[in-house]
Amino acid sequence: MDHFLYRNGQLHAEDVAVQDIAATVGTPFYVYSTATLTRHFKLFDDALKGLDHLVCYAMKSNSNQAVIKLLSDLGAGMDVVSGGEYLRAKAAGVPGDRIVFSGVGKTHEEMRMAIEGGIRQFNVESEPEINVLSEVATSLGATAPITIRVNPDVDAKTHEKIATGKSDNKFGIPISRARDVYAHAANLPGLEVVGIDVHIGSQLTQLEPFELAYRKVAELTETLRADGHMIKRLDLGGGLGIPYERSNEAPPLPTEYGDLIKRTVGHLGCEVEIEPGRLISGNAGIMVSKVIYVKSGENRKFLILDAAMNDLIRPAMYGAYHDILPVVEPEPGREHVKYDIVGPVCESGDTFAKQRFIPPVASDDLVAFRSAGAYGAVMSSEYNTRPLIPEVLVHDDQFAVIRPRPTFDEIINRDTIPTWL
Ligand code: LLP
Repeated sequence: MDHFLYRNGQLHAEDVAVQDIAATVGTPFYVYSTATLTRHFKLFDDALKGLDHLVCYAMKSNSNQAVIKLLSDLGAGMDVVSGGEYLRAKAAGVPGDRIVFSGVGKTHEEMRMAIEGGIRQFNVESEPEINVLSEVATSLGATAPITIRVNPDVDAKTHEKIATGKSDNKFGIPISRARDVYAHAANLPGLEVVGIDVHIGSQLTQLEPFELAYRKVAELTETLRADGHMIKRLDLGGGLGIPYERSNEAPPLPTEYGDLIKRTVGHLGCEVEIEPGRLISGNAGIMVSKVIYVKSGENRKFLILDAAMNDLIRPAMYGAYHDILPVVEPEPGREHVKYDIVGPVCESGDTFAKQRFIPPVASDDLVAFRSAGAYGAVMSSEYNTRPLIPEVLVHDDQFAVIRPRPTFDEIINRDTIPTWL
């Protein structure tokens, strides 16, 4: 079920014409669908029915507080990876006992903040981090619940920049050293070891790597229990992929993923957490942009948009594919035209798509980038002093700006000039 469809010749987000949002907020902008976010969260929640579980949304994929509140109100927990994300989750009203704190480089300050504000667990990733957390918790007279993230040395078969489960990645402790590290943690004050954490990568389009990793975690659970540890919780990470190129991609469904979890770790009687980000927010959002010029080059046509790599960096950074479609529905059978679709930023890397066939468009026409709800707005910047673009949330026939476009004054006045200049 897709909530970004053509109706009466116009692309809609739920019951709102995208063109009407553009007329109100200007372009470019992101728009998210409440119905899609809700549906995707529920798919995971339902897929784990029968297990004691918590779906901890990976906030890094889209951390707008409206999105967080919407998901939290449905019962979601949050996976945070920085003090800033922790504070955002709290500001959106997420209770501390539904927040898990991941990441390889947590600072003293971040640990203190989360212990004082309330935390479900820290997913710790190294021995130095375990030692520091023990010190921080002890100094606060607290006990910090922890899982230890293990690196199972499994190939996630995804883009190299987003694979995290191989032994040469910076994440987790080698699974071969787990017994020693758990023994060390169990002897430290201020810590309560509650479970095991694993996350092998993002945009996984096959179940097999998950299966390999989860089987290793199940085996480790038995070993650690035999060593006397109380392993009552398994955090199985996120990473289930989405179809970006709809015509030829069909990644596994959350139900299949849920069945795999039940099959591999269901017998252990553990509480299960998962940390999906992209599958919840990715196809719940589009980015809308306006064509500034159509320019004829020596041997190609360039579509120059008002959105750029600073607004959606995934194509420039990972060579990622995003479907691009006109906001006005093309007449049926209209022949497609081949364009290089680019932004106005001053580097050739500012290219969204090369030699892409889409229906013909002209200056001032609107186009939409699909699958832009995850790792879109959150990865944007003000490169070339381009203001961060607004985010809009639709709900049936209503829409609201959930992050406005800053003014140039706001951006420029953030700099301060030293007195000696
Ligand atoms: N948990 C941990 C510990 C993670 O590092 C990540 C993603 C997730 C959960 C969520 O993974 P997801 O379900 O969203 O695949 N910027 C990249 C993606 C980076 C993913 C980083 N970690 C992109 O645009 O493709």
